[in-house]
Amino acid sequence: MSKQILVLPGDGIGPEIIAEAVKVLQAASEKYDLKVELEYDELGGAAYDKYGTPLADETLERARRADAVLLGAVGGPKWDTIDPALRPERGLLKIRSQLELFANLRPALLYPQLAEASTLKPEVVAGLDILIVRELTGGIYFGQPRERRVLDNGERQAYDTLPYSESEIRRIAVVGFDLARLRNRKVCSVDKANVLASSQLWREVVEEVAKDYPDVELSHMYVDNAAMQLVRAPKQFDVIITDNMFGDILSDQASMLTGSIGMLPSASLNQRNQGMYEPSHGSAPDIAGQGIANPLATILSASMMLRYTFSEAAAADAIEQAVSRVLDQGLRTGDIMAAGCQKVSTAEMGDAVVAALKNL
Ligand code: NAI
Ligand code: MG
Repeated sequence: MSKQILVLPGDGIGPEIIAEAVKVLQAASEKYDLKVELEYDELGGAAYDKYGTPLADETLERARRADAVLLGAVGGPKWDTIDPALRPERGLLKIRSQLELFANLRPALLYPQLAEASTLKPEVVAGLDILIVRELTGGIYFGQPRERRVLDNGERQAYDTLPYSESEIRRIAVVGFDLARLRNRKVCSVDKANVLASSQLWREVVEEVAKDYPDVELSHMYVDNAAMQLVRAPKQFDVIITDNMFGDILSDQASMLTGSIGMLPSASLNQRNQGMYEPSHGSAPDIAGQGIANPLATILSASMMLRYTFSEAAAADAIEQAVSRVLDQGLRTGDIMAAGCQKVSTAEMGDAVVAALKNL
């Protein structure tokens, strides 16, 4: 059966990096004899410009019908002044919640070839391989009520709500423990249980889930300490499970351990293993249109798609190996450039990965 993929290039560097990921996906499909059908649509600012909304109903329907979505990134200064309810990022939050993509997998893996690109000492990050499992459809980004109001004394006030239900915590914890079994069997659950009621429930439910995984070592850490430990001794972590906002922040932080956010892929999965795959970074308006963005995060996201939604581990491994070969060849986009390497454009990087893939 053919694999149906909805491609949403998005805004800023989105179309540039997506073009390269599609090239690589098609090359991998040819090599491994996979039937892949691509359909294109818009999300974010591009969708606002075309449909007047950052996520059109037809687009959402296409996404529901697809097995997987490949996304570039959304947002940019062009849409900063529009109605907040129609901002590009709203479209992204909506597609995540409508497809119930509750499990966000963000690997932070240091390619040995890039040890110099990290801002941390090589001995601190060498061999780094962390997987952050972030809850994506609950917590404070979606909690109601959220309101902005003017108090009787004339002062402006605004508040958000951080709710988590048992079932939401349980299902993300299960994903984390299952993935830990495929890795080094260590889970660190990150919360703020010394202060927040939602975190106290989080910890309780994670403990319950852990009973089904006696072979996996569980630890708990407060998020402020986790932020510190991630830069002090990041290699102590294997799988981190955490809530939506903590995961958002910690995964950006973890990305810098690996040298550049331009290297970090992500997968967002639902219970049916349908997934949306996108780089961890945003639309990088500061470098959009120049052909210099690093496409590797998006290419590696396509690899995650083959691995998690389509269970094509060989093809997924091949893309990762091809990326590694290209780094061995000394090819670098600007964000990971180092002395003695050759600077290449977005498209040259994509072409090099395709060539390496064919030669594996
Ligand atoms: P950003 O991730 O777009 O950029 C941060 C910095 O990293 C910039 O200097 C950028 O040039 C650089 N960078 C990012 N990706 C790169 C790549 N592939 N190659 C080389 N350099 C890269 O974050 P920023 O600037 O905070 O946000 C820009 C826009 O993106 C905003 O509208 C924001 O809301 C949106 N955004 C969208 C996300 C998404 O679609 N998932 C996630 C994060 C931000
Ligand atoms: Mg973020």
